[in-house]
Amino acid sequence: MTLDLEKLNKEQKEAVMHGDGPLLIVAGAGTGKTTVITQRIVYLIEKEKATTEEILAVTFTEKAAEEMEERIDKLLSYGYVDLWVSTFHSFCERVLRDHALDIGLPADFKILDQTASWLLIRQNLDKFNLNYYKPLGNPTKFIQALISHFSHCKDQEVYPERYLEYADKLKTNLSDLPENQESERLKEVANAYHIYQNLLLENSSLDFGDLITIV
Ligand SMILES: Nc1ncnc2c1ncn2[C@@H]1O[C@H](COP(=O)(O)OP(=O)(O)OP(=O)(O)O)[C@@H](O)[C@H]1O
Ligand SMILES: [Mg+2]
Repeated sequence: MTLDLEKLNKEQKEAVMHGDGPLLIVAGAGTGKTTVITQRIVYLIEKEKATTEEILAVTFTEKAAEEMEERIDKLLSYGYVDLWVSTFHSFCERVLRDHALDIGLPADFKILDQTASWLLIRQNLDKFNLNYYKPLGNPTKFIQALISHFSHCKDQEVYPERYLEYADKLKTNLSDLPENQESERLKEVANAYHIYQNLLLENSSLDFGDLITIV
């Protein structure tokens, strides 16, 4: 193993040797973030502060996960199969596969990308109580936008129930106020969101957003 603290600057060293509890590092592109994380993993193992199966490294992109794994492999003299280096999504998928039954999903649940979600909605469009978002001339016009919107909602941990509550609150006693139209439109979206989630469940499916938020 090659823990090499001497090559690091003062801030990097502090981060690598940080004690217990969370530590947030904010640094720009190419400033040595991955170096810190990989060195910290080696540090934790070498100083016996953690065993390999107690370490989890997650990144946002596949590319970053691969790069980190490669760099850790080079630093550690022999292979550590227990080390978890993966993207948030594949980590969540792995946890969900192991515990799917606990949350009422079959272990062989499907993961839908945006195209598959689009098809699912398209095939079940009549189950959606859409008005504004299903224009007569072009009924599929808003499907993609709705999917993107649901995805943003999931990222913000906003679920259909909360969305509906919000739309209800907007409603005022004076029905001719523009706020009321807005409330109706939001309710339509909230209901569509609810129906979409039920459809996913009926089809033993999750989308990418669910992968993160369900765990
Ligand atoms: N303290 C240091 N002194 C000299 N070189 C360093 C130092 N820290 C990192 N480097 C080098 O700088 C380059 C970028 O480092 P690194 O990949 O860790 O940065 P990063 O912040 O993860 O980059 P990115 O934003 O591209 O993910 C690498 O070649 C690395 O070896
Ligand atoms: Mg990096």
